[in-house]
Amino acid sequence: MPALYPGGILPPYMSSENERTLILVKPDGVARGLVGEVVRRFEARGLKLAAMKLINAPRATVERHYEEHRERPFFADVVNYLCSGPIVAIALEGPNAVKAARSMMGATNPADAPSGTIRGDLALSIENNIVHGSADAESAAKELAIWFSDSEYV
Ligand code: CMP
Repeated sequence: MPALYPGGILPPYMSSENERTLILVKPDGVARGLVGEVVRRFEARGLKLAAMKLINAPRATVERHYEEHRERPFFADVVNYLCSGPIVAIALEGPNAVKAARSMMGATNPADAPSGTIRGDLALSIENNIVHGSADAESAAKELAIWFSDSEYV
């Protein structure tokens, strides 16, 4: 039985065999020239690029993206931060893409992220933690729909 997401059952590409997840390379990652390093790691693991774009994120899009954090004290700061410079939005595809990408990123707080992970190797600050990755299949479906239209997938 496929898992449910807000719009109903998961679309075909969201089976765990061929799943999609959203990755954002945040302003610190782009400013530090780490887009290639982040993409290299995911590609080396075997995940495929299904869509990718460099953008100045519109505030309304970022607010929708972080909707679940709206009541948290850091909401305004994370929204401002994601709007503070160019970001790269990526749709990654592959078997168990959500879980694979999450484990490669390490814990949200880089201080808790083990060496070998993106945050454990490249970041020190919870806000400037280089990447965002969807937490689960349901969030991935929701977040991908926020950042990409169907026509942007290659
Ligand atoms: P991200 O995975 O993009 O999701 C929410 C972001 O809020 C998180 O990464 C962090 O960069 C940022 N953040 C700032 N403070 C906190 C906090 N106390 N707990 C969780 N996330 C935080």
